Amino acid sequence: MKTLAFDVYGTLVDPLRISEALRHLVGESAAEIASLWRAKQLEYAFRRGLMRQYADFGRCTADALTFALEASSVSLEDADRQWLLQCYQALEPFADVVPALQSLRHQGIRCVAFSNGPVSDLEALLGHAGVLDLLDDLVSVDEIKTFKPDPAVYNYLVARSGSRHHDCWLVSGNAWDLIGARNAGLNAVWVKRSETALYDPWGGAPDIEVPDLLALAAQLSVQGG
Ligand code: LAC
Repeated sequence: MKTLAFDVYGTLVDPLRISEALRHLVGESAAEIASLWRAKQLEYAFRRGLMRQYADFGRCTADALTFALEASSVSLEDADRQWLLQCYQALEPFADVVPALQSLRHQGIRCVAFSNGPVSDLEALLGHAGVLDLLDDLVSVDEIKTFKPDPAVYNYLVARSGSRHHDCWLVSGNAWDLIGARNAGLNAVWVKRSETALYDPWGGAPDIEVPDLLALAAQLSVQGG
């Protein structure tokens, strides 16, 4: 196993935790708005990829926030919207992330982040989360101006890692991302972060399923990397 590539939003940090910031502004609708915000953010990236109308993931996130607020009949001052978008750059990591990355590095495994987010956003987010120094590289789809799950982005990850497809493992909490990786010939580790998370019934099962990253680190340690 040469390279472990970690998806960011939904794997290293929890985008739904933005509901904590939202709650200060919108009260009880926070969880519902956070969930619609995330769904629309992904939809906008998928659609921009298909339409060949690339704009960076930060734009997808900002546009999705506008939609989610309007759909919930909430109107916010511009300063509050900007504050929410700043909070999105300061999402907390899942509790297992730092110790698991420390263990994986200790095992000599190359660990990179691989995300739809542009590098400047990833540096801010992962720096704040205390994860940046534990990663060997940040690989962003922004460098080739399309989005997951376009096979081009997984091929780019492989090329950038100096790896081969069968030595490259995508680690993600997002089933659609793993199916995209397998479609391009990479291996897939599903981080099933909740009991109720579902894997899509097509596109091939993940190669490995773990409840969190510490379980992955332990499994690889037993296998000797
Ligand atoms: C990422 C989002 C899409 O690529 O999960 O980090």
